[in-house]
Amino acid sequence: MTERQSIHGQWSSRLVFILAATGSAVGLGNVWKFPYITGENGGGAFVIVYLLCIAVVGIPIMMAEIMLGRRGRQSPINTMASLSQEEGANRNWSLVGWSGVLAGFFILSYYSVIAGWALAYVVRASVGEFNGLDAGGVQDLFNGLVGDPERLLAWHTLFMLMSMFVVAKGVKAGLEKAVTFLMPALFVLLVVLVGYAMNTGYFIQGVEFLFKADFNKLIYSCQVVNDLEQCEVSGSPLLVAMGHAFFTLSLGMGAIMVYGSYMPKKASIAGSAILIAVLDTLVALVAGMAIFPIVFANGLEPAAGPGLIFQTLPIAFGAMPGGQFFGTLFFVLLVFAAWSSAISLIEPAVAWLVENRNMTRIRAAAWIGLTTWVLGLGTVFSFNLWSEFKLFDKTFFDLLDYLTANIMLPLGGVLIAVFSGWLMKRESSRDEFAMPSGGYHLWWYLIRYLSPLAVVVVFLHAIGIL
Ligand code: PFF
Repeated sequence: MTERQSIHGQWSSRLVFILAATGSAVGLGNVWKFPYITGENGGGAFVIVYLLCIAVVGIPIMMAEIMLGRRGRQSPINTMASLSQEEGANRNWSLVGWSGVLAGFFILSYYSVIAGWALAYVVRASVGEFNGLDAGGVQDLFNGLVGDPERLLAWHTLFMLMSMFVVAKGVKAGLEKAVTFLMPALFVLLVVLVGYAMNTGYFIQGVEFLFKADFNKLIYSCQVVNDLEQCEVSGSPLLVAMGHAFFTLSLGMGAIMVYGSYMPKKASIAGSAILIAVLDTLVALVAGMAIFPIVFANGLEPAAGPGLIFQTLPIAFGAMPGGQFFGTLFFVLLVFAAWSSAISLIEPAVAWLVENRNMTRIRAAAWIGLTTWVLGLGTVFSFNLWSEFKLFDKTFFDLLDYLTANIMLPLGGVLIAVFSGWLMKRESSRDEFAMPSGGYHLWWYLIRYLSPLAVVVVFLHAIGIL
């Protein structure tokens, strides 16, 4: 096969690809979502399942996505269409690309609202609003923000504009450089927070919560109602852990595939995927080690939900020396981490519009931004005006989050695994990976059997069949 070229350009090196893909993977999922879902699902056992999913499902599927992207060199929709033709499979495999585009819309619509909270907190930290606040004060501050739809809307709008701006300029232009030093800085700051957490006197308790496994908690979901703990059998913690492995690695929707399509031919796919997954996991675990000791030291509830980091970290910043500076810096870096993820959520759709509708990147970004912004209103109102409207016991935001992370991304991932393991010829995948045969065989067994099977088993468990 003669090698295809992407019309959108190429990363300047393997390092740039790794930075961009890590920028996509590391985001709100690591710092905001991982701690709160770990808190809601009982800690240690949940974390172990999540780590297992990263290893046996996440890394092989990430390799598959990069491999398909680099071979197809187009938007995920067109990549899947071309490759299926080339491999003699049904052209409808392009539906994987379409479902990814839809998932990207859905995710960005709420992602932008939460990133808006981080933006709001940059301002709050910088004017010293956290100084000396106790847990109650910080909670009031948080409730004041999410209870006010106008403020949420303003921050959501600002974050969408920021994301559209970068996407319109092209992924290579600005963010590449920013990511190079911002990501390490975020990591250093998280480590500083762990240092603070060590001095709370509750560090061990926090770390135990994160790593000590009580597997009953995976089967029973418990809630404290009127001071009594009520437990029921639930299939959901396993599904949430697996869904989060997809979410945090940006898998199952074409984001990594489209980044792979800009990857230079010679770069190693396996090495890159492993490195990205390890870095992403480290950030999440360090974030957890910073947050849970603060939760316990202040008598807060680990299962507080989406507000968890916004109700805990300000206590630390309000109490530590230099907290005003560190707090501002932390939320600035969190915004950047979210920013570099947001652009990858819409890149698959933008690439398709440029390829098939002959649009400029600017127009494509504007259209997608506007639609996503409108959908985001649903999430804005989920925390105030519509907080009582529930379907399946979930608000609009909860529904979107559940549908995308726990259903659409794993489903997309299974289809990618089936396509690359069963339908693609072995010579093709082998040629694209160009890696030692031991590694290739390991990937091949994982992608054909273990990865899709694990996802299917977790699905069946969640709907009560297993
Ligand atoms: N991985 C991102 C995070 O952890 O915040 C979220 C995300 C980005 C999910 C891109 C999916 C995606 F395609």
